[in-house]
Formats: sequence, C-alpha cells, structure tokens
Amino acid sequence: MPLRVSVRTANEHRLDTRSPPITPTPKDESPSGSVLTPRSGFSSVSLSPIDDKRIDQVSLLHQDLAAPLEFRDSLEVQHDSRGKPFEYGRGVWSVVYKASSRPPSESSLLTPPSSPAPGNHKVAVKSPSRRDAHVVLDAEALALSRISLFSGSDNYVVPFHGYIPGDHAIVLDAVPLSLATYIEEKAAIAKQNMSTRTMFDPVPGMASWKALATKLIRGLSWLHNTPHIVHGDIKPHNLLLRPLEDEDTGSVDFPFTPLFADFSSAHIIAGPSLSAEKNQPGTALTALTPPFAAPELLTVSSLTSLDVRPTPAADVFSLAVTLLAAATGDLLLYPGTSNMQRLAMAREGHRVIEFARSGAHGSRVPRNGLVEQIIKPALVKDPAERINPTDWLNLVESLA
Ligand SMILES: Nc1ncnc2c1ncn2[C@@H]1O[C@H](COP(=O)(O)OP(=O)(O)O)[C@@H](O)[C@H]1O
Ligand SMILES: [Mg+2]
Repeated sequence: MPLRVSVRTANEHRLDTRSPPITPTPKDESPSGSVLTPRSGFSSVSLSPIDDKRIDQVSLLHQDLAAPLEFRDSLEVQHDSRGKPFEYGRGVWSVVYKASSRPPSESSLLTPPSSPAPGNHKVAVKSPSRRDAHVVLDAEALALSRISLFSGSDNYVVPFHGYIPGDHAIVLDAVPLSLATYIEEKAAIAKQNMSTRTMFDPVPGMASWKALATKLIRGLSWLHNTPHIVHGDIKPHNLLLRPLEDEDTGSVDFPFTPLFADFSSAHIIAGPSLSAEKNQPGTALTALTPPFAAPELLTVSSLTSLDVRPTPAADVFSLAVTLLAAATGDLLLYPGTSNMQRLAMAREGHRVIEFARSGAHGSRVPRNGLVEQIIKPALVKDPAERINPTDWLNLVESLA
C-alpha cells in the first residue's frame, strides 16, 4: 500500500521518500556514457503559476520566465512491497519516482460537495540524484514551464505539472515506456523471428518505423518552431511513448505518441533578451551523449567551451541517429567498442550509416532504402548543410 509521505501546504513543498533512495553516483542511463558537467539556468521576465495560461503565444515568444511554474497539489510517492520508493528510471542527473497527485485539501473545502471529486493522477517525480543537479533541474523546470504554455505541447512533450522548488523536483505525467525499451523489445522479437523476409526491415517493421519517424520529426519541428526550444540531448532514453487511446490502436502502425522528455540540456533559441541568452550554458556545462550527439559538439574545443550550444541542427542529427538505432535495434550503434572508441567514431558521426551497415544489423539499412532516404539528409557533417526540421517533415511525409 502506498504511504502518504508528503503533503504540500501553501508555503511548503516537501518531497520526502522516507528512505535514502538517492545514490550519490547514479547509474548512467546511456549505453556509452555521457560527457557532462553541471549547468546553470536562464531567467528574466516574471510570469504566473501553471494554471494561469492567459498569455498569448505571440507575447510568450518574446518573453522568458523568471521562475518555473510551481506544483500546487499534494504528492504521494508510491512504494514497493518492501517499502522502497518505486522508481520509473534514472538518468545522469536524477531518479524518477512513481507517485500520485491530488488537488490540495484547501481546494476541496472550497468545492461544493455535489461537484465531482477529481481522482488521483498518476505522475512521475524527477528528483535530483546529486547536488550539482539542482541548478540543472531548476533550468529544466523553466524550459518545461515555457513549453507547457504553448498549446499543442501535450502532443509532443511529456506533460509538465509543475516544479517543487524546495526539492528541485519536477512533476510530470507518468509515461513508463521509453523508446529505448521499445527498441530493445522489438530487437529481441526480431532476433527470434529472423527471416529473409524481414531482415531488410527496421526491427519494429517498416510501417511502424516510418510512423515513428514521422511523429518524431513532426515533434521536433514543433519544438523548434513553436516554443523555440532546442532539446540538446535527443536519444532513445529521453523519448517516452504514450499509448494511444484504446479506440485508436486497432489498425494503426505505431500505437503510441512519442513524447520528448528530459529537457536537462535544453535551451531557448528565440525571443528572450540577450541577457537571458548569456545565462544559458555552453556544451561544457550540459550533458551530451555520444554517439547520439552531433559531431560538431564533440570536438575538443566544443566540449570545453562555455559558448558553444547545441543548435537545432544538432537536434536534427541526434534524432536521425535515434531513428537509425530504432531501425537496427542496436542502442549502442557501435557495439563491441570501448567508450573512447565510441567517442572517436561519434566524432565521425556523419558516417554513422556506414558504421551501422558494417555491423551485425546492417541489413536493416539497405542502400538507398527508405530508412537511408529519410535519415541521410539529417546526418550531413556540416550543420549548415543539414536538412532543417520543416523540410525534413516534408520529406518524410512525401515518401510513401
Ligand atoms: N514522465 C516519466 N514517466 C515515466 N518514466 C520517466 C519519466 N521521465 C523520465 N522517466 C524515466 O526516467 C529516466 C530518467 O529521466 P530523465 O528525464 O532522462 O533524467 P536525466 O536528466 O537524469 O537523464 C528516463 O530515461 C525514463 O526511463
Ligand atoms: Mg535522460
């Protein structure tokens, strides 16, 4: 039975899991390891709490938030039968717990008894797993706050319920399936059913892969063109799959909405003042994950720079590598290599299709096949020559 471990009052935000679940050195979620150091947040104009969405989108574009939108409800972290808090996952900075949220008791006093009581909501609580993650989660909450104010965000980004500043904890919709897990599952099934009929197709099947690609590219295009956010660390572990509602699932090729998650390396690319821009960290201060990171971010000068930031073109590259991994079923991309070898290969990342083709699952990316046609323009070495998300979306939609 879940223990009630935390109640929020107007001036108090506590997230107490009643045991020390946060390990000082978190397990790295990425297969090849992330290059990382802490980052600082961005800030400027002040805005209002999460339920106050009266800001029009045009003015929003030119504003930045001073503080994240706060979580106002009460939270109950779920525990397993041995009393340990239930974890959805871990990343570079955080542990993500399973919890349920409920509107605060104050509001139920104000609500007439005849009105329907809103039920508990299943949520995920992203908590820092190390001290230097506090500023990272502060900044992530700010990015998520901005995104959540744009209509349509729930179709592309994991829905954000607010921030608990005292705990540096982010409350999100619970979406327990990551694209990484989905790819692993599809790869395992494909291995069992290996046949000459399917060995030239992506592991989830061509129709599913194409539907996934289309939805993800549409989401990236929205992210760059609507809230004007660069994600900065796109990879299968940072994409979550929300099942479609029952009635939709029968005949569809890919019965999920893929959602961008983990905005810990994100930054804003339009609107805010130059001073806010200056507060945004360079690549030296964010997490980057080879082989998904674009090669221009993996040079020694870029890795140590406080000014170089992931660009929209870098996101395009990372999404293309993600789609390649979804086709081959291989999250490592370069299996059997050491971290250093992988970094060296990732620095040659524009050759990633060639590398994958020489691996065990190369047959799944046939020369000039649909997968290559879709991802190749996004893997161009020179970021200025790389396809932009809008053209990329047109391309994927135009290919039958
Ligand atoms: N909203 C969510 N619902 C369920 N699981 C989640 C959610 N957000 C993250 N997770 C899980 O927790 C892991 C770590 O979260 P992430 O945001 O990537 O943290 P980090 O910034 O530390 O990498 C993810 O890879 C995923 O497995
Ligand atoms: Mg992550």
